[in-house]
Amino acid sequence: MNMRTSDPVQTEIGLQRVVAAYVVTGLAFLILPGTFLGVWNLVSISSQHALGTLSPAWIQAHGHAQIFGWLGTFIIGIGYYSLSKMGGLMPFAASRGWTSWALWTAGVTLRWIANVTEFDWRLLLPISAFLQLAAFAIFFFTVSRHKRSKESTKRKPIEVWMKLVIASTVAFLLALVVNQVETIVLAVTATHPEIPHWLDQRYLFLAGWGFPVLAVWGFNARWLPVFVGLSAPHGRKLMLAMSALVAGLVAAAAGYFEVATLLLAGASALAVVALRVFRRAERPAKTLGVSSLFPFFMRMSYVWLLIAAALGVYASFADAHGGIWGASRHALTVGFLATMVFGIGQRVLPAFCGMRLLFSKRLMGIALVVLNVGCLLRVVSEIPAYEANLHVAWSVLPFSAVTELTAVTIFGLNMALTLLSAPPTAAVRKPGSLPILSQAV
Ligand code: HEM
Repeated sequence: MNMRTSDPVQTEIGLQRVVAAYVVTGLAFLILPGTFLGVWNLVSISSQHALGTLSPAWIQAHGHAQIFGWLGTFIIGIGYYSLSKMGGLMPFAASRGWTSWALWTAGVTLRWIANVTEFDWRLLLPISAFLQLAAFAIFFFTVSRHKRSKESTKRKPIEVWMKLVIASTVAFLLALVVNQVETIVLAVTATHPEIPHWLDQRYLFLAGWGFPVLAVWGFNARWLPVFVGLSAPHGRKLMLAMSALVAGLVAAAAGYFEVATLLLAGASALAVVALRVFRRAERPAKTLGVSSLFPFFMRMSYVWLLIAAALGVYASFADAHGGIWGASRHALTVGFLATMVFGIGQRVLPAFCGMRLLFSKRLMGIALVVLNVGCLLRVVSEIPAYEANLHVAWSVLPFSAVTELTAVTIFGLNMALTLLSAPPTAAVRKPGSLPILSQAV
């Protein structure tokens, strides 16, 4: 007899618990293995006045924890939750969510330990990649084999936002497959757990510009009209932006960085136009329960995307010491992606984790302001420091790192206090409450 409940309310509550576990885990990776190690790295680089003095294994441990440990964990958690919105709840979704959570968390943790300590890394590195791949495969098959209800299959073609999310999921899977192959090759041939620079440079395009950017564009196409009041996105232009981005990733994989960065810059500009980010809003933004700065920072994140793209082009032509690539990368990861997650995340995640309310709107606003100040200091000083060895720029960098760490800590604290606060359970546990949750997505 099947002991799993088929009660949609119980399944939804189960999925809320799963997403809460993913959120807490993502926050943990963001703060310690991710940002704290990033700050440590930047302070060391600044004290030596050179990027080359720091172990690439530590830099890669930081990058992996941020991209896969933080962003990846959030994306998988939201993916599981949105199953309940795809027509027909699956009674087994929550248990699958827990299985992939356990495998995923173990995989990302082992990768970080292997990179930082080098303990048994020839074994740990491939195992960690396998655990991540297995976790993602469970997620991937659960989502892709999910049957939409007859009604929705008949009537609705796949919407543009969904196409972007599907492309992001495929890019995510590809990044993990490459990671698996890479770790096996390293275990057999390398002397340290470090991806060689030529390969890392190519891989970072897939890991940074690949699945995270596609996921943000996809969810933005769905949510920005609702939350910021923007007009509906221009579907064809958005598809064109996606094609240019994919072409850029292919060019980067082949080592044509000038072509790749030009394509990514074109893709970013097209996405901004297609999502109508800088057009006057059609309706007032929905800021109830969140900071009133939310719509401003949603637009600001796209300014960062354009800066990241422009710096990428500049880097591909002129970078000599990693400073322009670094500035472009962090304009993308901190300016665009982190600002987006600080904004949209605090808007939707409390609802996904049991219809909670955000603990503090003010803390949300402060985190966004401090993050953007830190990112500005970082991007502005990294190029003159790394490329021109300008003394004053080297002294700004540690300050920028601590500012970013402060922002991340405030964000983490606000989310943790939100999850610790009691949800208005009466509303959630009644069957009639499901449509309310659906509106949050
Ligand atoms: C919040 C404060 C952060 C600090 C202080 C920081 C610091 C650093 C430093 C020092 C490097 C070495 C290369 C360079 O100097 O540019 C680096 C690389 C990197 N960071 Fe960050 N970072 C931060 C946030 C983030 C975030 C939020 C992400 C992603 C979501 C991220 C992703 C990466 C990636 C992918 C790399 C390249 C790793 C590699 O070379 O394989 N960083 N970071």
